[in-house]
Amino acid sequence: MKGVVRKRFAQRLLDWFDQHGRHDLPWQHPRSAYRVWISEVMLQQTQVKTVVPYFERFMQRFPDVAALATAPLDDVLLLWAGLGYYARARNLHRAAQQMLAQHGGEVPQDFDALLQLPGLGRSTAGAILAQAHGARHAILDGNVKRVLARHAAIAEWPGHPNAAKQLWTIAESLLPQQRLADYTQAIMDFGASLCTQRAPACTRCPVNVDCRAFIRQDVARFPAPRPRRERPLRLASALLIENAEGEILLERRPPVGIWGGLWCPPLLEDGGDAATLLSERYGLRLLSAVALPRLRHAFTHFELELLPLRIRLDGAADTLRDCAGQRWVKLSDPLPALPAPVSKLLQRLKTSTDQPCPEPSTA
Ligand code: ADE
Repeated sequence: MKGVVRKRFAQRLLDWFDQHGRHDLPWQHPRSAYRVWISEVMLQQTQVKTVVPYFERFMQRFPDVAALATAPLDDVLLLWAGLGYYARARNLHRAAQQMLAQHGGEVPQDFDALLQLPGLGRSTAGAILAQAHGARHAILDGNVKRVLARHAAIAEWPGHPNAAKQLWTIAESLLPQQRLADYTQAIMDFGASLCTQRAPACTRCPVNVDCRAFIRQDVARFPAPRPRRERPLRLASALLIENAEGEILLERRPPVGIWGGLWCPPLLEDGGDAATLLSERYGLRLLSAVALPRLRHAFTHFELELLPLRIRLDGAADTLRDCAGQRWVKLSDPLPALPAPVSKLLQRLKTSTDQPCPEPSTA
């Protein structure tokens, strides 16, 4: 390539972005720091096409920091239901309260102040400042790690601290002097549409001339996969307790742990006995428990197998009234914020409750 002046990496991506990038995402119009922040948190583990309708409903209900900070957490969780990773919603709510108390109800423009807020790491903070204010910060989300790991042929798994350090250095060295908002969107769009995990379109790639993985014709080897780790399986029974009115008992999960703050039927961790739990925790007597089809849900560090048990009580459930952490719900009424698998479970139950509850059998 002697004598050929090659455009810089960033400029080639920007040229590509001008033609092929996404220019009509709802958080780009208008592009306020608040809107970018919410979108970036929603996009942390979720694809753009899933996020868009959630983002729009969220903006309608919480148009600014103050609206979010002063809303009940339940309202925030309700609008989040189905997006998963609910800690993100709880962190948004707490971060909004901190912004209201300490930053005049604005998303701070200072990188270190952003990092102090719950749920904001280096990449998300950089993405917010670059997109909202054109500030010169790098990002390194999953897509960008893949792009840079290929371009520089980084042999180690990007989650390893050594590799992550190298990738941050590279990400920063490639930043343009201008158009930081567009560049940030460009590299994310490029990762999501051309430099994809399974089918990278290398022949159409604007940075293939100096992509080390491509030059070696070994793109599939990058990024190196995460070292294999077994995800343990946890079991829990979901107690679908029905009262005489055909309502189901839901409880609010404790704020930390799985599905923190969301509503669920009582869960019985593996090995527990339904009759004992009902009598000791709720003062109720079990008449029968019928197992419904099991349901699996993958969390980051483990898989959960839910065994739904449809419970009939021996006697009335008068001892249990609605209170702060507990309520009876009719499945045909609007439900509070539920984790997606529980929502699926209750949907199944609703269909099956059109049939009578089976006759008692052994629990
Ligand atoms: N992932 C994280 N932020 C994103 C954005 N702004 N556009 C597309 N994907 C993203």
